[in-house]
Amino acid sequence: MTADPAAELRGRLRAVKDPVLRSARLEGVLPQRRMIPELVRLMADPRIARWALNIPSPYRTSDGEEFVRRARAGRRKGTWLALQLLRRADGVLVGGIGLHHLDPVHGRAEIGYWIGRPHRRRGYASEATEAISRFAFRRLGLYRVEARMSPGNTASEAVARSAGFRREGRLRESLRIGATRRDEVVYGRLRWERSGRRR
Ligand SMILES: CC(C)(COP(=O)(O)OP(=O)(O)OC[C@H]1O[C@@H](n2cnc3c(N)ncnc32)[C@H](O)[C@@H]1OP(=O)(O)O)[C@@H](O)C(=O)NCCC(=O)NCCS
Repeated sequence: MTADPAAELRGRLRAVKDPVLRSARLEGVLPQRRMIPELVRLMADPRIARWALNIPSPYRTSDGEEFVRRARAGRRKGTWLALQLLRRADGVLVGGIGLHHLDPVHGRAEIGYWIGRPHRRRGYASEATEAISRFAFRRLGLYRVEARMSPGNTASEAVARSAGFRREGRLRESLRIGATRRDEVVYGRLRWERSGRRR
């Protein structure tokens, strides 16, 4: 990164072109309005909002529109890269992945992911997590990517592990959920660490 790492990261994000990610079975593309009806259908599963805490539930068309707007603004500002995951074979929307809290000064970001219920347990989240981590290190020049999840989200922990992230610890009461507080488990992967993928 240069003397102005924020400007450099913004420039790198603005330069990305679809498909931003390409892996064996998936493409990661910038959020598209035409995908909103399918997004709303997949988000009808309440377990997504239960674990991915920034996702509204029930999820309405207006939430999808707001998501597309905020994703565009986040990329322009250099704070958030949100992608929709499409199956390459037929273009079907299977989930979403993103890099949040992009921090150009320290070269780090937090990854978030979800996969629609009909598409789970096929390795898609692991495949996309590996692809976006590589993109973060190589194309955005980041040094560290984190994944944070609520204790008990064993599927999310397994995804992080299978993409080469290491469990680093538990942040006590780091989230405020209404009137209560909740711990978070933290996984991290550094630029020089190898992928954990076996597939
Ligand atoms: C977590 C989630 C993204 C996993 O997606 P997925 O595509 O089914 O995950 P994968 O198929 O890549 O599975 C990766 C690993 O997790 C394991 N796994 C997946 N779902 C699991 C479950 N419900 N229970 C236990 N292990 C699970 C798989 O066996 C696999 O393990 P392996 O690599 O040792 O073989 C998906 O369940 C989801 O969207 N959940 C709701 C939203 C959410 O929790 N997001 C994360 C917020 S931090």
